[in-house]
Amino acid sequence: MASTPDAPAEVQRGLQDIVALESHITFIDGKRGRLLYEGYDIRDLAEHSTFEEVAYLLWYGRLPTAEQLRDLEQRLAQLRALPEPVGRLIDTLPAESNPMDILRTVVSTLPMFEPSETQPSPNSIGGALRLTAAIPTMIGRFQRRRSQLSPLKERPDLSHAKNLLYQITGREGSDLDARAMDVSLILHADHELNASTFAARVTASTLSDLYSSITSAVGTLKGPLHGGANERVMEMIDEIGTVDRAEEVVKAKLARHERIMGFGHRVYKVEDPRATILREWSRRVGESAGNLHAYDVLQKVVEVVHREKGLYPNVDLFSGSVYATLGIPRDLFTPIFAASRVAGWTAHVLEEYRDLRLIRPTARYVGPVDQTYVPLAERTA
Ligand code: CMC
Repeated sequence: MASTPDAPAEVQRGLQDIVALESHITFIDGKRGRLLYEGYDIRDLAEHSTFEEVAYLLWYGRLPTAEQLRDLEQRLAQLRALPEPVGRLIDTLPAESNPMDILRTVVSTLPMFEPSETQPSPNSIGGALRLTAAIPTMIGRFQRRRSQLSPLKERPDLSHAKNLLYQITGREGSDLDARAMDVSLILHADHELNASTFAARVTASTLSDLYSSITSAVGTLKGPLHGGANERVMEMIDEIGTVDRAEEVVKAKLARHERIMGFGHRVYKVEDPRATILREWSRRVGESAGNLHAYDVLQKVVEVVHREKGLYPNVDLFSGSVYATLGIPRDLFTPIFAASRVAGWTAHVLEEYRDLRLIRPTARYVGPVDQTYVPLAERTA
């Protein structure tokens, strides 16, 4: 038998438990269910902060003063408009497209109209601001286009969360709705070396530009094991129908070895702290809308999945029910995730530029060696 090339003995599938780099941004304590941005507990941020303040924290590594926050809010509000050709592009792409495909395409197109932002730069947050400001407009423009409605005018007077809601629904929404969206944006803004952030950092580590890095991240977030799970949670709620059927439906799924969306996590071994906060918001917005159906069904699902499988909810379990109650179409749930995570992605790309090291792991080769090349004419099937 042919000898195999030298190879590392251990393979960590999915890079599980591999410490790939040092980061200053986010700390996850998976055993205790804690999540910190730059040392600040996510529970405090969800209680007292805003998405804009959290974005500042992620980009600069410290909380802003009142003046610095006002300045950032104004800059974000002024950067919302899309270049005319980019808006027209959204209007010409197929209306039935997956909104994440639209987002990926448009994010990659934007720098062609803003060439000054395309150079990798560790200290410039210009591209981060621009993308964070523009993504809600991209999502909203596509939603209007496929609903055969004309684009909305920018509203620089609205907060980031209110603007996102307005862009999607055409309504400002109540203060409670806007706060629910704001909290959800805070909770999704960063999560250490998750798959899409890793994709962004891999791209940045080649000294590629910020927009290419974020394009990689958007494509990675699209997958149902990462960003797409909350949409599937809503499908499960439909399948269950009434609360009294939850046990039977969940048990049948587990018997078929199906994954229950919104449960389990690579890092958390207890309940994801983001799920705990969103559960409460799911109840609040449900009560305000006079419809607790999704919340009630999910509470029962949590009980059954924990009893049968010992799994805890992750952030995706209750986010979908919050968004659905706010009137957001299901296929925009993942784009909303992107509208928040872009703050973290860009913070990580800037961090990567500051401490650059090409990310290039190795594979253990398990294919054949020493094969004899047979000329094409002599090959048989
Ligand atoms: N439903 C049923 N079984 C599960 C689930 C689930 N949701 N999650 C994990 N398991 C089981 C899995 O079948 C395996 O069992 P066994 O050892 O008997 O084969 C065991 O738990 C370990 O699973 P794993 O796939 O090795 O664990 P992982 O760390 O690779 O999985 C995960 C993490 C998030 C991909 C997984 O829990 C999952 O598929 N969850 C459902 C999708 C989901 O909710 N995704 C959102 C993740 S949170 C948002 C984000 O960070 O993007």
